[in-house]
Amino acid sequence: MTRTMVLGVGSFVPENVLTNQQLEKMVDTSDEWIRERTGIVERRIAGANTATSDLAYEAGKRALEAAGVGADELDLIIVATATPDMFFPATACLVQDRLGARRAAAFDMSAACSGFIFGLATADAYIKAGLYKKIMVIGAETVSKITDWTDRNTCVLFGDGAGAVVLGPGEDGRGILSTHLHTDGSMSDLLYVPGGGSRNPATHESIDQRLHYIKMRGNETFKVAVRALEEVVVEAIEANGLKPADIDVLVPHQANLRIIQATAKRLDMPMSKVVVTLHKYGNTSAASVPMALDEAVKDGRITPGKLVLLEAFGGGLTWASALIRW
Ligand code: UT7
Repeated sequence: MTRTMVLGVGSFVPENVLTNQQLEKMVDTSDEWIRERTGIVERRIAGANTATSDLAYEAGKRALEAAGVGADELDLIIVATATPDMFFPATACLVQDRLGARRAAAFDMSAACSGFIFGLATADAYIKAGLYKKIMVIGAETVSKITDWTDRNTCVLFGDGAGAVVLGPGEDGRGILSTHLHTDGSMSDLLYVPGGGSRNPATHESIDQRLHYIKMRGNETFKVAVRALEEVVVEAIEANGLKPADIDVLVPHQANLRIIQATAKRLDMPMSKVVVTLHKYGNTSAASVPMALDEAVKDGRITPGKLVLLEAFGGGLTWASALIRW
């Protein structure tokens, strides 16, 4: 059976760095609290004139270069984002135009922080079915644009960035071995943006009530995330008849170092096998997994033949895994 292989990876972050020390001047917080509770030291923030499609385009361009694939070869572009440039057209359409991927269909994937893996699973199904040959999946976010900079519970957590992969039919047993996607909509109010959509359209009142910003019940989300991620990584390993020790590299969603450590502990995995980038970038939502993947490919931790496990958890609630023979 055809497997879907990652042909190339790329990522991009805005230049502007926001440190914990700078945040201390903005809200009642401390560098110590942020480091101890989250592991985050700094994050990147997009400029006023930079939108999600700008970051997505840069990451996509780099992924094409790494894959040695031309934009005109792409059949499909999926952009996973919770911070699209606008309601419509989809951010993927804007990226398709910028890349010059004239043959490609394009749509967005909305599964919050799990969006990249949901997109990967979708692309995998198209390629396995023989419908498409070359697909780009991008996770891209400007979370700073929906961050309430007066809310210390959330504003210290997030950052902006983008990561992208180019996928195609695999060879020699290499490629995506499995994907597992999960949703529990009954907990949608743990992490959400209440305003701006059809439930609470933009009005002067909705702006005054700050409804257009992320709301999160952090501690409750934390507990569900730890449990769900422990389950989803075990599910991936067991579904493939493997043992935790077989996994060479874990690429987790970068929300909180304590959540990442709990997942590694459940797998009895040393942290040396775990890719951690959140100290530099914070939680970049759908971009976090492909950004971390790119870093681990570039620094040589991920090489052909390695067994790589991706996992993510986010608003919805959604959570997911993908196991890849690189
Ligand atoms: O990516 C999508 C999924 N997202 C996640 O998985 C995030 C999950 N949640 C978390 O990462 C953690 O829950 C947080 C980092 C958000 C919070 O850590 P926590 O250990 O769960 O702390 P908490 O919410 O229970 O708050 C503890 C205390 C509270 O004070 P009191 O009520 O004990 O007096 C908060 O008000 O920490 C306070 N606090 C802060 N203090 C300084 C909350 N935010 C801050 C802050 N600086 N920025």
